[in-house]
Amino acid sequence: MAKKTIRDAQVRDKRCFVRVDFNVPMKNGAITDDSRIRAALPTIEYLISHGAKVILASHLGRPKGQVVPELRMDPVAHRLSELLGKKVVKLNDCVGPEVVAYVSGMSPGSVVLLENVRFYPGEEKNDPGLAKAMADLADIFVNDAFGTAHRAHASTAGIAAYIPAYAGFLMEKEIAALGKLLEDPERPFTALIGGAKVSDKLAVLKNLLDKVDNLLIGGGMANTFLMAQGYGVGKSLAEPSMVGEAREILDKAAKKGCKLLLPVDVVVAAAPETGVPAKVVPASEIPEDMMALDIGPETRKAFSAVVEGSKTAFWNGPMGVFEVETFRGGTLEMAAALAGVDGFTVVGGGDSLSAVEMSGLSEKISHLSTGGGASLEFLEGRELPGVAVLLDKD
Ligand code: 3PG
Repeated sequence: MAKKTIRDAQVRDKRCFVRVDFNVPMKNGAITDDSRIRAALPTIEYLISHGAKVILASHLGRPKGQVVPELRMDPVAHRLSELLGKKVVKLNDCVGPEVVAYVSGMSPGSVVLLENVRFYPGEEKNDPGLAKAMADLADIFVNDAFGTAHRAHASTAGIAAYIPAYAGFLMEKEIAALGKLLEDPERPFTALIGGAKVSDKLAVLKNLLDKVDNLLIGGGMANTFLMAQGYGVGKSLAEPSMVGEAREILDKAAKKGCKLLLPVDVVVAAAPETGVPAKVVPASEIPEDMMALDIGPETRKAFSAVVEGSKTAFWNGPMGVFEVETFRGGTLEMAAALAGVDGFTVVGGGDSLSAVEMSGLSEKISHLSTGGGASLEFLEGRELPGVAVLLDKD
């Protein structure tokens, strides 16, 4: 069901509580990637130019209901001010008399950023008291936090019980792009899935099996599939308890005629560290004292050929230990393969997005999703709580 967006709302002179996902990576107090802030700008700028009073709220990190000084929103407010070319006031609370007083004095077109919503224990518990206090600050709720839409929290879902809820433009764009993958993909449709664990991605693998023509599995999770095929994986990361599930996926793919590719060769080393000697071995011959840490050259070639021959491709998860330069090659090559697709491409998840960015190929991808977990849950076929609460279009 299509959802109402801010285009459907009367926003002039209205107080708009806008949930954004400004959960940006930080190092020593500085933002290392501001993509998520930039992704919310179209919504914020629209609201400013239409005379709304813009009250922004986000989480940052996982402070677990406590005030953690390093996770205050001040650096975000500073960066947002720069990007908007406009002063963004940052408050030290999300609710309470001072916030109420500030908001009641706001003029149309002004912007305020509230404190980290996860400093409040009620946020993650979706506490109705907190949700109501947030709702009392505003006339309408705008959810533009696609990256957090899979969480049923006070500021992403609970608040919508009290005031009308609309999608922001980022939310609208994400739902349209990911929805297209599930509803009407041009074929062949390929999913390239990596990352550490099968258990994290089991549900999405199962749902995608019904949708895709090709399923390519790399990264640490591929080791569990290699075990399911009867191979030893040495000291590699693997989940022996998931071997049965992996076998089921292999069987189901074979029955459905879905082409499932696993690594045929891997880069191995004694440890996932810079400077350790690494070599390429067949995936069926991982030495007992070594770990598979990246896909090998034959696998890269085979995966790239399938990806590049697709009309629709989705990628989530690195092919190896992306943080260490020695084991980054497979992931970077997959970024290049995605960029070479003559069709519709979607990339989600931190390391896959970094690989695309690092390769300077962002412009060549149709949609870079700001949601890692949220995009996976969407592709599992589940309705996300932060989307479910939005008003349906008539
Ligand atoms: C994310 O980074 O995936 C979102 O901001 C959600 O964060 P969370 O996993 O801490 O809920």
